[in-house]
Amino acid sequence: MKKLILSLTFLIVLRFAAIAVEGMWLPLLLGLLNETEMKSMGMKMSAEDIYSVNKGSLKDAIVQFGGGCTGEIISPKGLLLTNHHCGYGQIQSHSTLEHNYLEDGFWAKTMDAELPNPGLTVTLISRIEDITNMVLNGVTDKMDKRTRQSTIDKNLDEIRKSWKKEAYEDILIRPFFHGNQYFLFVTVTYRDIRLVGTPPSSIGKFGADTDNWVWPRHTGDFSMFRIYAGKDNLPADYSKDNVPYQPKHFLPISLDGVREGDFTMVFGFPGRTNEYLPSYAIEQIVDVLDPAKIAVRDKTLAIWNAAMRSDAQVKIQYASKQASLANAWKKWQGEVLGLTQTKAVDKKQKFEAKFKATVAATPAFKKYANILSDFQQLYADIAPYAEAKDYYDEITFRNVELLRIASQVNRLVKTYENEGEAGFDNFNKRLQAYLDGFYKNYSPAIDQEVFGELMQMMVEKVDKAYLPEGFIKKTAEYGNYELMAKDVYQKTWLTDAKAAMTMLSKSPNDVMIAIQTDPACQLASAFDQTYNEKIMVKYNEYNEQIDELQQVYMKALMEVFPNEKFYPDANGTLRVSYGRVQGYQPRDAVSYSNTTYLDGVMEKYVPGDYEFDVPAKLQELYKARDYGKYGESGRMPVCFIGSNHTTGGNSGSPAIDAYGNLIGLNFDRVWEGTMSDYNYDLSLCRNIMVDIRYVLFLVDKFAGATNLIEEMKLVHPKGDVRYKTPNSQKQKPDSTIKSIKPDKIEKIEKQ
Ligand code: ARG
Ligand code: GLU
Repeated sequence: MKKLILSLTFLIVLRFAAIAVEGMWLPLLLGLLNETEMKSMGMKMSAEDIYSVNKGSLKDAIVQFGGGCTGEIISPKGLLLTNHHCGYGQIQSHSTLEHNYLEDGFWAKTMDAELPNPGLTVTLISRIEDITNMVLNGVTDKMDKRTRQSTIDKNLDEIRKSWKKEAYEDILIRPFFHGNQYFLFVTVTYRDIRLVGTPPSSIGKFGADTDNWVWPRHTGDFSMFRIYAGKDNLPADYSKDNVPYQPKHFLPISLDGVREGDFTMVFGFPGRTNEYLPSYAIEQIVDVLDPAKIAVRDKTLAIWNAAMRSDAQVKIQYASKQASLANAWKKWQGEVLGLTQTKAVDKKQKFEAKFKATVAATPAFKKYANILSDFQQLYADIAPYAEAKDYYDEITFRNVELLRIASQVNRLVKTYENEGEAGFDNFNKRLQAYLDGFYKNYSPAIDQEVFGELMQMMVEKVDKAYLPEGFIKKTAEYGNYELMAKDVYQKTWLTDAKAAMTMLSKSPNDVMIAIQTDPACQLASAFDQTYNEKIMVKYNEYNEQIDELQQVYMKALMEVFPNEKFYPDANGTLRVSYGRVQGYQPRDAVSYSNTTYLDGVMEKYVPGDYEFDVPAKLQELYKARDYGKYGESGRMPVCFIGSNHTTGGNSGSPAIDAYGNLIGLNFDRVWEGTMSDYNYDLSLCRNIMVDIRYVLFLVDKFAGATNLIEEMKLVHPKGDVRYKTPNSQKQKPDSTIKSIKPDKIEKIEKQ
């Protein structure tokens, strides 16, 4: 008997491990590619329930939020759930020292009190079409690259012109599989999106940068918005008279919680992955590019963080830009670590050896014989340019904010030269609006310090061949970067909002002179010119060749390994990932379980701390164990992890159960697995979700926003039977499991 139980457990473990949950799949192809596997993993829906153009389906509840995140509709009145860090910019923009919503949270008790957010949009997908045949019509393998591209461009033009759509719809066409397939998305974008509620940062960003990208996690990373529409339920500009949007579908919310092994699905807009890169590219990322970017941000963040900790005003002003700078900075570190520890380069090399051997053994594949050696050459060719480009992108276009705005201001000169006074006025207006927003969150003193540090880094790290001669001479003359910083920041008119606006309001001729004599503009202009001439010309040339080769390589992979199931790299379009609730073993003797609880929040609590403070109200609820219907056996679940393959852009994506109900809110990945953008590894890659019951508990018990709970549809999909005894689930084996061959669906890299 013991033996039987043991082998049963073994089988279950094996089953979890063998099924390939890797991948971000196209919703319209689920029926073809994934439905059987998903059902074998416990899914009770059909592919048609997830994506349909004929009836309301899950996809009608999913939106791209603000361009970079995902959100989901959770009520018939357009109530939208996304992450706290996705609504962060909006929450910041409504925050002042008097009404500090970042610090204290915000809840609209009536719809009148919901806050509009100019510029914020959400996009729904009406339908998706495979248009590969139309786009590649007339394209042949023998065509040279130019002709291929111009044929494609002509076809695309034709499709864009002739595609039938409603006036309120847009179309979006994206290449998939590196240009081997094309899909068209018909979208509807809503423009009146209001802030409904957010917890304080001590909940929504609990653990801040220390806990970011890390499991075990205890963050209530959510905020709520509402989509407003015109009276016809169609997109409209903001108006007091707009009404809550009525969705075709909204997600019911499960109160039943999750168990190890439960099927989960994440539905959203993953931004960018690169799973089919050659080993040479990965080597470059690990050894050169990621370390360069990390080093730059190390410097900036040390300065910004210190300033934010010592000044409450700066803490608000820098909140959003610090979060995005710190987020990628920490991710790159996890990525380097993960790629190194999982020997990603090694694995790729082994796979490439296999690819080469198969190609060599098959005459029809002769045309693919040189792909990998060509890649090797191209990555060697591009290396110096790629490294210099990353330093420039980070330093002159991002981290030193003065240079970034100076580069924008410089564009006025070209605009005036090329487009005359009308063009000048037009661009100037947009520039001033941009600067107006910029100065609200800018401190020249902080930036000056960053400038000093990073100009030094520029000289020390970037090859002289890629630096402006004048700049090298100047730094030598100053002999001291602090002095140089002080001088530039004293002399420029760009650090002061008033001075800048006054200057830009003068006549075009005066503005020209002011720009051309300004030291920050001069420096930015020298950097821009060197960047364009000495770096980007070559970089683009090689990069184009790499792209073209990657297209051929992708095609080759699909032909050489015809039995493999390939998924397209993320490209900001709507995708489905699926997996299970699952803990993991990051290293020897360390094992992580799948759920965290409020007890863990209290364990991390440091009174008054910048990152780990806990609101008094939450502590009271914890002491009283006052969790209402949201707790589980007297405890409050906070976050859980699963094996769903996700990336940036999946933030705010719903975690959905086997039946189509909301169980969690995706917001992060675990430290050991952030390399999944290049090399997903089932043993280490986990996505992190807020347990939806924690969200509901916070809305209801913590914030008292019962008005919102009343809008939602709370359900018990598991009923009371399935989970009555801990073993009841195991005793009901799924008959479909036997029918799938796990080895068929393992990914190629694992062979
Ligand atoms: N790492 C998550 C993501 O990639 C969450 C970031 C928000 N939190 C933060 N401390 N910056 O966006
Ligand atoms: N927090 C990320 C985002 O903003 C999601 C985490 C990830 O990259 O997986 O999309």
